[in-house]
Amino acid sequence: MRYGRSPEVLKDVAFTLAPGSFHFLTGASGAGKSSLLKLIYLAHRPSRGRIELFGHDVESASRNDLPFLRRRVGVVFQEFRLLDHLSAFDNVALPLRIAGAKPDEYRDDVAELLTWVGLGQRLWAMPPTLSGGEKQRLAIARAVVNRPDLLLADEPTGNVDHEMALRILRLFVELNRLGTTVLIASHDQDLVRRSGMPVLHLYDGKLTRHSGEARAEPRSTRPAPRDETPQADEQSEFDLGDENDFGEDEA
Ligand SMILES: Nc1ncnc2c1ncn2[C@@H]1O[C@H](COP(=O)(O)OP(=O)(O)OP(=O)(O)O)[C@@H](O)[C@H]1O
Ligand SMILES: [Mg+2]
Repeated sequence: MRYGRSPEVLKDVAFTLAPGSFHFLTGASGAGKSSLLKLIYLAHRPSRGRIELFGHDVESASRNDLPFLRRRVGVVFQEFRLLDHLSAFDNVALPLRIAGAKPDEYRDDVAELLTWVGLGQRLWAMPPTLSGGEKQRLAIARAVVNRPDLLLADEPTGNVDHEMALRILRLFVELNRLGTTVLIASHDQDLVRRSGMPVLHLYDGKLTRHSGEARAEPRSTRPAPRDETPQADEQSEFDLGDENDFGEDEA
């Protein structure tokens, strides 16, 4: 991949994400992490090489098929890309509405997911009135709400504190446990190590794979002790349950 006539940003990136796998994508700033994600969510075409998404060759897939492939991918953009004229609730509900769900079917799920990411008090807030970390959590809720087959998250913990970063990691791990393939671009070395998940590392346009160090099992990762009073809309445990419903986190 190259931008215009510039040198290739990505040039040796042969890899496959097995269905149901969980990987981090690392590399220095400018190494091409966001560019690689753009190729995967079909925002850019490769200047050479081949991409298969869910078994479909992207180049030969018909134009009509691309939106359907794209819809199976949830993306947390590095710059959020929230719709500023829609409330937090409506931003998260949008992918479900596009998929044809009725408000009665998704109202509770959306509210509970927003509560889970700590935005239970801000359901009707407009994105421009949210803090950076709140916007990030909203973008994450929107990306995961319809249980995508593939979740791509670009620096999803860049604007939140350590405890919230672990909480977000647990959300991703849980989503992965329910079958979503996960790829997370991250600078957060601590988070990457803690997850124990394998790493795809970009350097000089080349991708190398490293197995996870498994310093801690992600599912047993517990939040750091908190000294502030827990908020009513926060949970201390990470267990979203097996139901097709993000609200099953009550013990
Ligand atoms: N739209 C663009 N037009 C031209 N060059 C671009 C564009 N987007 C990115 N680049 C260049 O491509 C290279 C890779 O950028 P990319 O955003 O993929 O890196 P990154 O690994 O995501 O970095 P960061 O960690 O800072 O987010 C950089 O040299 C960047 O300047
Ligand atoms: Mg980037």
